[in-house]
Amino acid sequence: MKSILPLVFLFQFSSIVLTSLAYTLPDKYFINCGSDNNMNSTGRVFTGDLNSGSFSFTKQSSPVRDSNQAGQSATIYQTARVFRQPSLYEFEISNTSTYLVRLHFFAFSSPTPTNLSTAVFDVSTSEFSLLRNFTIQNSSKSPIVKEFLLSINLGKFNIYFVPKVSTFAFVNAIEVFPAPESFIPDTTPHITSTGSNGNYMDILSKVLHTIHRINVGGLTVTEDNDTLWRTWVPDDSYLYNSDTAENRASYTGKLNYQGRVSEYIAPGFVYRTAKQMNISGGSPTNNFNITWSFSVRKNARHFVRVHFCDIVSPSLNVLIFNLFIVGKFKQEINPYDEVGQLAAPFYFDFVVDSDDSGIMNISVGPNTKSYLENTAFLNGLEIMEIMEKSGSAPVISRTKKGHVLVLVVSILGCLSLIGVLAVFIFLGLKCRKPKPAEPLDSWSALPVYGGGSSHSRVTEKSTNGSMTPNYLNLGLKIPLGEIQFATKNFNTKLVIGKGGFGNVYRGILMNGMKVAVKRSETGSGQGLSEFQSEIMVLSKIRHRHLVSLIGYCDERSEMILVYEFMEKGTLREHLYNSNFPCLSWKQRLEICIGAARGIHYLHKGSDGGIIHRDIKSTNILLDENHVAKVADFGLSRSGPSDQTHVSTAVKGTFGYLDPEYFRSQQLTEKSDVYSFGVVLLEVLCARPAIDPLLPREQVNLAEWGMLCKNKGILEEIIDPSIKDMINPNSLRKFAETAEKCLEEDSADRPTMGDVLWDLEYALQLQQIATRREPHEDSTTDASNVLTSSNVSGFPSLSESVNEDVMPISDSLNMSETEVFSQLRITHAR
Ligand SMILES: *[C@@H]1O[C@H](CO)[C@@H](O)[C@H](O)[C@H]1NC(C)=O
Ligand SMILES: *[C@@H]1O[C@H](CO)[C@@H](O)[C@H](O)[C@H]1NC(C)=O
Ligand SMILES: *[C@@H]1O[C@H](CO)[C@@H](O)[C@H](O)[C@H]1NC(C)=O
Ligand SMILES: *[C@@H]1O[C@H](CO)[C@@H](O)[C@H](O)[C@H]1NC(C)=O
Ligand SMILES: *[C@@H]1O[C@H](CO)[C@@H](O)[C@H](O)[C@H]1NC(C)=O
Ligand SMILES: *[C@@H]1O[C@H](CO)[C@@H](O)[C@H](O)[C@H]1NC(C)=O
Ligand SMILES: *[C@@H]1O[C@H](CO)[C@@H](O)[C@H](O)[C@H]1NC(C)=O
Ligand SMILES: *[C@@H]1O[C@H](CO)[C@@H](O)[C@H](O)[C@H]1NC(C)=O
Ligand SMILES: *[C@@H]1O[C@H](CO)[C@@H](O)[C@H](O)[C@H]1NC(C)=O
Repeated sequence: MKSILPLVFLFQFSSIVLTSLAYTLPDKYFINCGSDNNMNSTGRVFTGDLNSGSFSFTKQSSPVRDSNQAGQSATIYQTARVFRQPSLYEFEISNTSTYLVRLHFFAFSSPTPTNLSTAVFDVSTSEFSLLRNFTIQNSSKSPIVKEFLLSINLGKFNIYFVPKVSTFAFVNAIEVFPAPESFIPDTTPHITSTGSNGNYMDILSKVLHTIHRINVGGLTVTEDNDTLWRTWVPDDSYLYNSDTAENRASYTGKLNYQGRVSEYIAPGFVYRTAKQMNISGGSPTNNFNITWSFSVRKNARHFVRVHFCDIVSPSLNVLIFNLFIVGKFKQEINPYDEVGQLAAPFYFDFVVDSDDSGIMNISVGPNTKSYLENTAFLNGLEIMEIMEKSGSAPVISRTKKGHVLVLVVSILGCLSLIGVLAVFIFLGLKCRKPKPAEPLDSWSALPVYGGGSSHSRVTEKSTNGSMTPNYLNLGLKIPLGEIQFATKNFNTKLVIGKGGFGNVYRGILMNGMKVAVKRSETGSGQGLSEFQSEIMVLSKIRHRHLVSLIGYCDERSEMILVYEFMEKGTLREHLYNSNFPCLSWKQRLEICIGAARGIHYLHKGSDGGIIHRDIKSTNILLDENHVAKVADFGLSRSGPSDQTHVSTAVKGTFGYLDPEYFRSQQLTEKSDVYSFGVVLLEVLCARPAIDPLLPREQVNLAEWGMLCKNKGILEEIIDPSIKDMINPNSLRKFAETAEKCLEEDSADRPTMGDVLWDLEYALQLQQIATRREPHEDSTTDASNVLTSSNVSGFPSLSESVNEDVMPISDSLNMSETEVFSQLRITHAR
């Protein structure tokens, strides 16, 4: 039995007068949580919550301090308050008005057991749920600021922090201060999926959650340069096609703020810069739009504010252009009509319904009525999600006793109202059985999204029904919008490969990473099970010689896999029927060795027991340094460890298919060895595994190669362009290796480990020969070579299994930036 103390929080801040704002009101709260220090931060004084006698807190909440930042200059991010029970902060509000509420979160490293990145919690007001299942697990590198705009009535205003079962909540700093008068209108035009649809009313009864705040054409405007301590980020990463727009030189003259527009609407930094149409680019027609694409919550309502300031026109009344919102809605923008002078800021507000694409497009484009042709611009943009009242406020019952607010909270998980007592309450522990940590929201692997409220990297939970079973939800999910962005909406010009499954596109993610995007067509050969199999296999393993999976997308029954981009394409393209320069024998050996390492790792590595089932020269890809990586794990199977084979329907590629497997349907690792033997011959002879145009006995490379080898005429079918470069010993070793791989009986075939060893040996033989020539006999007996010092550094087999393995930490603990940086490391190697 354990007594649960009522949770008490009360702030009775005497007015903190800040003279910097013209509309100064008494209700301004800037709170430095978990600290006894008042902190000056860019014009605000954050009062330490331990500092004042006008509040109290219970044993269930504790201040924590960053142990690492001691001695560095003080910031509000050095301390936090931790809540292990549902708790609240309470503010006295003396004037009904619209308020800005900002919550600051930063998971500094604090001593165990309070690792702030493990917190998962809800934040709400009495009527609105502000954050749900919130965690900064994946964005612990920099502070996250969540900003909300809401009307608060005279009286008390509460912010509740409710930890999830077996975890806790925390907050570093809180801001609650009134917005300037009429900052947010109550009514705006409403844009629905069909276009404009009258007015949207009653905005002020909702909560607005800032998700994007953009300074178009300029640099980041930080909180110290903003009148309301907002952060505005540059627009470049949101541009749909960066060639369509160019930055307008920053305007240095006086801005003519007028009417309802003041510095509080947006600071001068926002209005002094803009993007305009890039017509110098020699676009065939100068009739195009500039489009920005923003990730938004699907099927939700958003408050959108577009900022303009004509710093573009040379004289008055010469410019009209069009503004498009989600493609359906068009508004003519005539700066002269709006403000009657140049360099005068103005803005428009809309409420816009998002569709199920999760993308909101905003465009500007030319209008034929304009005297100034081919001109359109934009200065700034804000998008806020409109949050409806939710019934999910924490179940809290309260009794007021003087100035002390008493909260009695049922233990989370029971969610039943226990009762109210003046002092404290005894609770049975029955309903408090520790539960396993709750699964976190699915997330999107995209750092640049959600940047609205400044530093946020946590993306909104995707609301679509996912067809992927939970066990696949490995944190690799990429929103469809991001993939459409990367591939310019599956632009056919970006197709780099086609197959039975669909197309492969080249693309660039918003973070600048080059990727290959494989999109299965519905009804194509590659089914859901192959899709899932590939995700399962690739998410478990990372290896220098296996192509890395960056993510996947299964929204709207798409089956999309996103891989690291392999600059040099497939091995086959480098062997025949293409314009790539001819690979040297040494390069070919190195590629074969790389691929063999990858396959060996699949078979025997830490997650071993994986059979690839489709080894062929088009599934071995080359990066910019010709490092080979094995790709396409759609057919892969994990063999049960207690069995030596798996019985499955025969799948694979004709010409590479193990004849024994074909007959017996018993799949073993040796089937991959066979297919790899065919690849070795392909590399040696530079011809396809199956060439139906050749005489019958030559059609199948495996058969024809072995026939020639047995007749002793293998040399005759070697790729003529390298024939003279190959050292005979190296060739002999290589040919023997291929022959062993292609043995009829799988028991007679070597393991991939043996193959790897033999190929390393063939490479050594080639290199020794190259070094010795022309002074010594290049046909040195292999046994001599083995004793020579050059060969002493042969890798041991166990080394070769593991030396290229990328550390793959538990994906649940790995942030997307970490994933990406790992991949970059892979790339750089
Ligand atoms: C904050 O700044 C003001 C003046 O800018 C100064 O008077 C005050 O002492 C400062 N407070 C702290 C805690 O540094
Ligand atoms: C409340 O706010 C209004 C404007 O929003 C202002 O005119 C009035 O003076 C304020 N009242 C108090 C008590 O501050
Ligand atoms: C805190 O937890 C995160 C993820 O759960 C982990 O990556 C990090 O190393 C932990 N930090 C400390 C100081 O233990
Ligand atoms: C704020 O504006 C000033 C004046 O333009 C500039 O020098 C400074 O770098 C800006 N500060 C930040 C943090 O952007
Ligand atoms: C304008 O377009 C041209 C070609 O379309 C491009 O080369 C140039 O980089 C673009 N300018 C900007 C600022 O994007
Ligand atoms: C600009 O975008 C709108 C909305 O998507 C479209 O209707 C219009 O045709 C576009 N204009 C040009 C010139 O591409
Ligand atoms: C956004 O605009 C681009 C370019 O016009 C278009 O291809 C894409 O389909 C649009 N996306 C949505 C969700 O409207
Ligand atoms: C939060 O997590 C709980 C448990 O994992 C889940 O039932 C709930 O739907 C989640 N809520 C939201 C809004 O994602
Ligand atoms: C954090 O990342 C892991 C994978 O790295 C993922 O499983 C988890 O869902 C993410 N959490 C959030 C809240 O995005």
